[in-house]
Amino acid sequence: MSDAPRLNRRPEWAELGDHRAGPMLHPSLRELFAADPGRAERYVVHAGDLRIDYSKHLITDETLALLLELAAATDVFGQRDAMFRGERVNVTENRPVLHTALRAPRDAVVEVDGENVVPAVHAVLDRMAAFADRVRSGDWTGHTGRRIRNVVNIGIGGSDLGPAMAYEALQAYTDRSLTVRFVSNVDGADLHEAVRDLDPAETLFVVASKTFTTIETLTNATSARSWLLAGLGEGTSRSGEAGNEAGNGIGSGAEKAVARHFVALSTNAGKVTEFGIDPDNMFEFWDWVGGRYSFDSAIGLSLMIAIGPDRFRELLDGFRTIDDHFRTAPPETNAPLLLGLLGVWYGDFFDAQSHAVLPYSHYLSKFTAYLQQLDMESNGKSVGRDGLPVEWQTGPVVWGTPGTNGQHAYFQLLHQGTKLIPADLIGFARPVAELEPELAAQHDLLMANLFAQGQALAFGKTAEEVRAEGVPEEQVPHRTFRGNRPTTTVLAPELTPSVLGQLIALYEHKVFVQGAIWNIDSFDQWGVELGKVLAKRVEPALTDGTDVPGLDPSTAALVAAYRALRDA
Ligand code: F6P
Repeated sequence: MSDAPRLNRRPEWAELGDHRAGPMLHPSLRELFAADPGRAERYVVHAGDLRIDYSKHLITDETLALLLELAAATDVFGQRDAMFRGERVNVTENRPVLHTALRAPRDAVVEVDGENVVPAVHAVLDRMAAFADRVRSGDWTGHTGRRIRNVVNIGIGGSDLGPAMAYEALQAYTDRSLTVRFVSNVDGADLHEAVRDLDPAETLFVVASKTFTTIETLTNATSARSWLLAGLGEGTSRSGEAGNEAGNGIGSGAEKAVARHFVALSTNAGKVTEFGIDPDNMFEFWDWVGGRYSFDSAIGLSLMIAIGPDRFRELLDGFRTIDDHFRTAPPETNAPLLLGLLGVWYGDFFDAQSHAVLPYSHYLSKFTAYLQQLDMESNGKSVGRDGLPVEWQTGPVVWGTPGTNGQHAYFQLLHQGTKLIPADLIGFARPVAELEPELAAQHDLLMANLFAQGQALAFGKTAEEVRAEGVPEEQVPHRTFRGNRPTTTVLAPELTPSVLGQLIALYEHKVFVQGAIWNIDSFDQWGVELGKVLAKRVEPALTDGTDVPGLDPSTAALVAAYRALRDA
């Protein structure tokens, strides 16, 4: 346990509090810009292809200086270096945190317990590339010799959200002749809808699970196997019969079929074999890759099949561009550091509870959902690494959907509600290349909306301006916008694989910065365990009415009502 002062006892924390209570008690972006128009140029950082404008934040040079002092006092960069070096910064699980090694170049050296892990990373990437090429070229065929035309990824959380989001984001780069779907929910409807129009003979299942113990994934994978074997006319034989060496209840014809139609992405070879997937069909990763940081590992296989190994490499290079930026840019121009500090400023000194991420890109429709796990599973903690309850705000609620749709749904609250909600507006200078000219021409309108929202949120509309439009006096308060709603605008040339990698790494490192300042372990997820354990315990009460000890009265009554309704 470190004897460093607790965060809220640090002088830098107190100075930020004084600054907020003093000059920043009622910050006005109109006044800040009037006094310092140069902030429009000064409060911009470049990281790779990303131009990140943070001028519309409730900050001054003094705020930034104080935030940077806090970063120095909490040794954010020292903690960063420890992560990149492979130290066991995931203290509660006693593991290194090395998703950055997944995108390291072939000749890099990143050691875990004295062993360079980069060759193993590239060996798996090479195997993935060879397999992806075989599927894409038609060389890898199904059990009946038919070409694979459908890829169904089965996974949940970090084994689903990343590849599902990126597949959506990079659709313009995908092989459109392949159907790629993602099944995560244990609700049977998810698998049903994913496979109902597919031909089993042409379908490859990619079972993605770091632990290979996740009940949703294993349940769906088992059902997918039954669907496949039934569709291929390869019945299952009972456990113990000839040809069933794995003891998993399937006969040899079925085993051969599974071997052609199932691959696994996991750290757990034993469980993969137990499930009945040939270890030769397993693509490995390692326990130093957190689930929510894993999609640039083997977990990206379905994406790699969709976009091809070269595009996947571009994606990894994009990640690495921001890794290098985060490692080397000085504090004043270090984008993840600045974004992380701004989040601390609002969460801890303005009591902001949430953070909106609003991509102005249809292709990024799953981006915010991906960030929810990245940020909220990482920083949704209330106990510090010192084992003590924190006395400050930690991670925000992250939410949002693509603009312009959100404008016609919840932006009302952003503009005129009672809550301060900092937002990220993400946009691109060019639409993806394949859009027809008429549709590509809509891009300026899309981006005009992004810029207009940032302006309206920041500067609002004063009562005088409303009156000057001849609005009747009784309506003036309703049509006045206070403004001062902070936004970051992230502008990139185009949504390419590289730019997507850059965006994700930007948020990964922002989350890291915040965890480092808040002194929490951003890399464990004990908070999801209790629900998992209880679900297993409750299930028998639902299926066969078993009396489950320890069910609280409310839940017991719900279970009884459910059974009565179900069986009526
Ligand atoms: O939801 C909890 C969690 O452990 C996530 O952290 C993880 O991404 C997800 O479950 C899936 O886990 P696995 O990849 O082991 O199936």
